[in-house]
Amino acid sequence: MRILVIGSGGREHALAKALADSSQVTAVLTAPGNPGTAQVGENVDVAAMDFDALVSLAQEKSIDITVVGPEKPLVHGIVDRFEAEGLPIVGPTQAAARLEGSKAFADRFMARHDIPTASFHVFGADEYEDASDALDATGAPIVVKADGLAGGKGSFVCATREEAQEALDQIVQDRAFGTAGDRVVIEEKMEGEEVSVLALTDGTHYVLLTPSQDHKPIGEGGTGPNTGGMGAFAPAPILDGPLLTRICREIIEPTLSGMQEEGAPYRGVLYCGLMITADGPKVVEFNCRLGDPEAQVILPLVDSDLAAVFQKLLTGDLAEGSLRASSEAAACVVLASDGYPIEYETGFEITGIEAAEQVPDVSVIHAGTEYAGDETIVTAGGRVLGVTALGPTLPDALDRAYEGVDHVHFDGKTYRQDIGEKGLTHLEDTP
Ligand code: AMP
Ligand code: GLY
Repeated sequence: MRILVIGSGGREHALAKALADSSQVTAVLTAPGNPGTAQVGENVDVAAMDFDALVSLAQEKSIDITVVGPEKPLVHGIVDRFEAEGLPIVGPTQAAARLEGSKAFADRFMARHDIPTASFHVFGADEYEDASDALDATGAPIVVKADGLAGGKGSFVCATREEAQEALDQIVQDRAFGTAGDRVVIEEKMEGEEVSVLALTDGTHYVLLTPSQDHKPIGEGGTGPNTGGMGAFAPAPILDGPLLTRICREIIEPTLSGMQEEGAPYRGVLYCGLMITADGPKVVEFNCRLGDPEAQVILPLVDSDLAAVFQKLLTGDLAEGSLRASSEAAACVVLASDGYPIEYETGFEITGIEAAEQVPDVSVIHAGTEYAGDETIVTAGGRVLGVTALGPTLPDALDRAYEGVDHVHFDGKTYRQDIGEKGLTHLEDTP
């Protein structure tokens, strides 16, 4: 089987690596890829949004399955385009990807299908006064979001009424997120712990990937601005069997049946970002793709052949039991550039990757890196690398990941030292 992975981050390196491990896979191409994907397959210099060139690439290279990493091509209809050409591709259609592409669509969809989430209001950009009135009526704390894709920067969790007004002004008046701010969504702030529950689905059947937890804020203890994610671990000890069953019955199954009823069956990765509140699990957001860095911990815990699982997803045969999950734990510590997520410099040489990978069960996943010359790898982004480790238990995986972290060096290397601590707390609570 010949595979094409679309994207260039840590998630795509983790995908390419997992697919290259499949006994059925003979080639893994990544477009455009990064130095990590180049080590497990071949990079092709085609951008993730260049649909014409990607279709030609899949045809010319006789690709059997294309897997899309990031949300943007999905929300802009890459799956519809590939399917029109008869090319098998893993991901939701443009209509189904609205679950991530429009927060107003997602909130209204959940309301139509009684899926638990925050209470919300949606306003057009021409309804500024009404939106302001809604902020007054609800009061702080409150969440203000641009409706469309905003590179993870369009949601504001506001502690005060003033902050909420500033968020509204940025979205609606300053148009800081362009057309993503054509509508604004105001939500009740939910309290609890966040978990990422991802399912692979053929539209009807689904299998769960191991639940994980991300660490979005840049600072220790969850302080400072939100990032793309500073580290992850799986499984998430906060989710016991009954809670996971509840998530399946109250969230995943009604989402799949609801999308079917509405004529937009959802096929691909369904990422449910959830808040475990005092009233039970509620949806914070849906994403239409694997998480990053969640993919780095989830994919190594798939014991089944991933390419075979994707094949079943494409033929509608993803029956229960199609995916075997490892009983191990995984942890990923993201190494970022100093100043991320605001302002940072790039181009610093990275050393010690091989030494880190000498630590048992450690893999170094590339995110923002590039080659400078033949051998030298330099920093090229905010999130640079994800040091990922497996272990029999979460504490083992975390120890190994941090041991790996110590071997890697580059100017401005920053990382959170408390990845996994929230998971350890729940482990201590479990008898
Ligand atoms: P989003 O852009 O929807 O993914 O939101 C980004 C982050 O903001 C989430 O991961 C949560 O930490 C937080 N967030 C979003 N919506 C809510 C909400 N209604 N209540 C509490 N936190 C939220
Ligand atoms: N790590 C969060 C996300 O991928 O959306």
